Amino acid sequence: MKQGEVRRIGILTGGGDCPGLNAVIRGVVKTGIYQYGLEIVGIEDGYLGLIEGRMHLMNITEASDILTRGGTILGACNKANPAAYSVMENGKWVKRDVTDQVVENYHKWNLDALIVIGGDGTMSGADHLIKHGLNIVGLPKTIDNDLVGTDITFGHHSAVATATEALDKVHSTASSHHRVMVVELMGRYAGWLALRAGIASGADVILIPEIPFDIDVVCQVCLNRSKHGKRFTIIAAGEGAKPEGGEMIINRIVKDSPDPIRLGGIARFLAEQIEERTHLESRSMVLGYIQRGGTPTAYDRLLATLLSCHAVECVVKKRFGRLIVMKSGKVDSVPIASVAGKIRTVPINDPLIIAARQVGTYFGDEKELLKSHQHDENK
Ligand code: F6P
Repeated sequence: MKQGEVRRIGILTGGGDCPGLNAVIRGVVKTGIYQYGLEIVGIEDGYLGLIEGRMHLMNITEASDILTRGGTILGACNKANPAAYSVMENGKWVKRDVTDQVVENYHKWNLDALIVIGGDGTMSGADHLIKHGLNIVGLPKTIDNDLVGTDITFGHHSAVATATEALDKVHSTASSHHRVMVVELMGRYAGWLALRAGIASGADVILIPEIPFDIDVVCQVCLNRSKHGKRFTIIAAGEGAKPEGGEMIINRIVKDSPDPIRLGGIARFLAEQIEERTHLESRSMVLGYIQRGGTPTAYDRLLATLLSCHAVECVVKKRFGRLIVMKSGKVDSVPIASVAGKIRTVPINDPLIIAARQVGTYFGDEKELLKSHQHDENK
């Protein structure tokens, strides 16, 4: 072995779980062992395992038979930011910088580098640790698809498939009962998931954070549909959707989380408003964590395999501080520092939004609907 060669690497899955994480773990372990003879250390529960020194040497057996399994065999945690780690002191949450503890555990375990799999929070944590001397390569994960620098994150495709299937199922019951059905989808401050699942399932109205909606327009769509014999309306609403001039609805504050806001409640708000204003029977449902579960789609398995192999190669070549990404159909990498602390939202001129509008899907900002309604009433 040459002096300074990468010999032992740690792997962790940070942030919320999603389908495809195990496929990535498999890719890293198998490529690392088969191609480069590396030792792979599995760090448990994301950065929490690095803080607490909970990790173990992995072997091929542990990484076998997991390609199709949802979740992560290493465990996940979306709370443990080494720079601002929440600890309970005298009945109160206080933030402590535990970076030194992380650096100590990294060296104690003789790690030459880390592969961190996660979204914006995990990459911000990675950026911090890189500044403290750790060698890190990142892999882009999140059902929200909101990571800067990559066209796609793994987990997103599977979540879109799950949400589409759920919306398809809502379709038949909405139609049978002649109801307005509002389905709330995850995605935080970005509308990728609601947009894609909404279009794939033919939702009549899609509401995303990037396009604030006018509740009068949404009601008018429902009324117009019922007037023209369509006795139901399906609304796909991203959890971050908000009315014009209004705020996103917060479901809870998770005090010990570095990113404490959890959105939720927009579907219920909309269903109540629509029923009150239009007298059309309305129901709401929240799809929730189902979107993060289940087996990854074939696409996510392919993406996970492709990106994980590149991540190991990047580590072996000592190209540290990089996030492996997909750009215009090609594998590439960008500096982790360039993505940390940022989120990628849907451009309002995204080709999918334009196409959806062309096939008659509404986004809640079509003021001309109200004008034409006014015109009809004055006749
Ligand atoms: O980032 C993934 C995600 O599922 C978001 O879509 C959602 O807003 C959030 O995580 C929920 O976080 P938690 O698992 O902490 O409730």
